[in-house]
Amino acid sequence: MLRVRNRHLLQLLPLLLTAAAATTRATAETTSTTGHGGDESALVAFKAKISHHPGALASWNQSTSYCDWEGVTCSKRHRGRVVALDLSSRGLDGTVSPAIGNLTFLRSLNLSVNTLQGEIPPSIGSLRRLRRIDLSQNMLTGAIPSNISRCISLRVVDIDTNKGLQGSIPDEIGSLPYLTYLVLANNHFTGAIPSSLGNLSRLATLSLSTNYLQGPIPAGIGNNPYLGFLQLAANDLSGLLPPSLYNLSSLYYLSLGTNKLHGRLPADLGKSLPSIWRFAIGGNLFTGPIPLSLTNLTMLTELSMEDNNLSGTFPG
Ligand SMILES: *[C@@H]1O[C@H](CO)[C@@H](O)[C@H](O)[C@H]1NC(C)=O
Ligand SMILES: *[C@@H]1O[C@H](CO)[C@@H](O)[C@H](O)[C@H]1NC(C)=O
Ligand SMILES: *[C@@H]1O[C@H](CO)[C@@H](O)[C@H](O)[C@H]1NC(C)=O
Ligand SMILES: *[C@@H]1O[C@H](CO)[C@@H](O)[C@H](O)[C@H]1NC(C)=O
Ligand SMILES: *[C@@H]1O[C@H](CO)[C@@H](O)[C@H](O)[C@H]1NC(C)=O
Repeated sequence: MLRVRNRHLLQLLPLLLTAAAATTRATAETTSTTGHGGDESALVAFKAKISHHPGALASWNQSTSYCDWEGVTCSKRHRGRVVALDLSSRGLDGTVSPAIGNLTFLRSLNLSVNTLQGEIPPSIGSLRRLRRIDLSQNMLTGAIPSNISRCISLRVVDIDTNKGLQGSIPDEIGSLPYLTYLVLANNHFTGAIPSSLGNLSRLATLSLSTNYLQGPIPAGIGNNPYLGFLQLAANDLSGLLPPSLYNLSSLYYLSLGTNKLHGRLPADLGKSLPSIWRFAIGGNLFTGPIPLSLTNLTMLTELSMEDNNLSGTFPG
């Protein structure tokens, strides 16, 4: 019975392979025509919005294929499709063209350390394959488009230090299932930290420091099992620290200085944060005794608790 079935399959195999090859060819042809024209015109539109580019985009001319343009990487499998655009530190001035959203095979976008202005185009929501976006150290303004949540492959979001970015952090960021790295520090963000960030079960690094964020630290943040780096310093955060934060064996860097957080530190602090090496809560409204158990935090090298109403001294 089995033998017969196998023989049938063997006879079918050449047919199946031919069919598969035909399909692959057809797909390749389609992607190379639409992909080629579409991605090239998106790059040309991107360049058109860059008003000043000292030499960096000189290679972006018709004498070479756009896949060879500086900073552009095309797919090996999907001919003509741009998978990475890396124009970090190229002195780019101007705005980010909405045409960026047409580069639908893009996996990595790095425009960091330039002087780009204007808004982050909502069209980035079309980039469903995008894993990494780095727009840090620019002059971008406006809000983070909420449809960033449609970039469902995102792992890394770095929008650090764009002096003009404002508005609240969109709740929708909490629905990006693979997000491991979220850095929105040094901007003008206001409002509360979305509690949806507690749903980012792969989150390892979260920095929202030096903004104008208010309200409590959502308890859910302490439930992210891989969280190691949590930096929320220099905001206007208030309330108690959620107990879940003292319960994170992965946490090695906790920086909450210069906020309006209050409450007592748990006596068994030294038991619950085995990996911690920076513990910084200076410039808040914490009260009560400094826990003796801190001596048991063997990894601790940076401790900052000044400017609170704590009693006692650091034991030894
Ligand atoms: C981007 O794609 C849209 C929709 O397919 C199209 O209308 C537009 O012309 C494209 N823009 C560029 C610059 O290629
Ligand atoms: C066009 O790009 C090539 C490299 O791809 C470069 O050698 C050439 O100088 C560029 N032409 C202009 C006019 O910038
Ligand atoms: C977290 O995810 C669950 C399940 O997807 C959802 O029901 C809940 O509303 C989310 N919580 C927040 C605060 O977004
Ligand atoms: C601390 O972690 C333990 C074990 O993972 C869990 O049972 C407990 O509920 C946690 N406590 C808080 C306050 O999150
Ligand atoms: C430090 O840890 C040891 C072993 O777990 C424990 O016996 C001791 O009481 C702890 N010290 C403090 C000050 O909590």
